[in-house]
Amino acid sequence: MSEDASEAAPSIPVIDLAELVHHDRAVRAATAQAIRTGFGEFGLVYLANHGVDVALRDRLFDQFVAFTDRPEAEKEPLNAAKIWFQRGWTPPNTERAVVAGGQPDFKECYFAAPVPTESALSIEYPEICADNVWPDGPDSDFARDYQTLGHQLHEAGLSLLQGVAMAMGLVQRTFDRRLEGAPHVFRLLRYLPLNEAQIEQRVLWGEEHTDFNLLTLLPGGRFLDPDGAPCARPDEGSGLYLRTRSGEKVRGVAPEGCIVAQVGQQLEILTGGALLATPHVVTAPRTPGYTRVSGAHFLHLHPHEMVFPLEPFRTEEAIRAYSPPVLAGTYSMKTLVDIGLAPPTALDGLGYRHYGRLADLRAEESPKA
Ligand SMILES: [Fe+2]
Repeated sequence: MSEDASEAAPSIPVIDLAELVHHDRAVRAATAQAIRTGFGEFGLVYLANHGVDVALRDRLFDQFVAFTDRPEAEKEPLNAAKIWFQRGWTPPNTERAVVAGGQPDFKECYFAAPVPTESALSIEYPEICADNVWPDGPDSDFARDYQTLGHQLHEAGLSLLQGVAMAMGLVQRTFDRRLEGAPHVFRLLRYLPLNEAQIEQRVLWGEEHTDFNLLTLLPGGRFLDPDGAPCARPDEGSGLYLRTRSGEKVRGVAPEGCIVAQVGQQLEILTGGALLATPHVVTAPRTPGYTRVSGAHFLHLHPHEMVFPLEPFRTEEAIRAYSPPVLAGTYSMKTLVDIGLAPPTALDGLGYRHYGRLADLRAEESPKA
């Protein structure tokens, strides 16, 4: 991948979030236009003035690395297949990419919701809207720092979405009001050390995929050498790469002080494909023993929202491409089955489920018949 991936991607716009609320209308309009270009042509933008505390991020990464280094028996109680791994610890090799024919990703993760989820949703979607769990309880530094950083990323995402609405000629709160109370997830990831044989087989840390949510914010990542010490990128071609609309692969490393924002499937569908979900891949170094730690905050549509092109984008072509309309909560369930986190039987719960009751009634009356 290194051969054809562009190392510097100067044409990807840097969006200064402060300029979205600038007093000068021309500045606001130019910023919106840059979002349109970034999300429309590349599927990503870099964010400046994002309000995300980089020192806090680094501290959280340290704590997460310490957690992943704990014995498996200590992590196991936080491994929740029952809730489709949507909170707590995801063991290595659990998730798989759809396009890779089921190859699992070589990573272990942590999931938590940094902003409150609408409480009634825990009845409708008990797995997706489960309570957070923490290795050392909700008052630990890990829990507090995790939620603070996730909250900062979330706020940056909300600001950007107002800019997206402006860029697409929509009412300013078109997107952000559609995600209030949704189960947004901030995820920490650690990609695992590979051995010589896996490197020879060109095993990827994370197969190429697009995110199924509305918008993803990436606060950056860090490599660790075989002794666990932070280090520079071990070799050319390792790390996060994103594919632009034209197929070009660019490194997902933001300019100094910036973070990355990328388009998810839900935003692509709402805009009828005017904005395109960003394919991305995480490649491993060619030297054994290295790991990488990173994070991603996923902003989701509220589960009751329809995943279907918004009215201004509802051309015949878009309707054909994104039919049938589906609720965001159902869309999430289907995707979690596809990527191996939820069991296929999760889909049995959709729609009418009481044929069994009718069968019981019929069985009761059949002796008399
Ligand atoms: Fe992703």
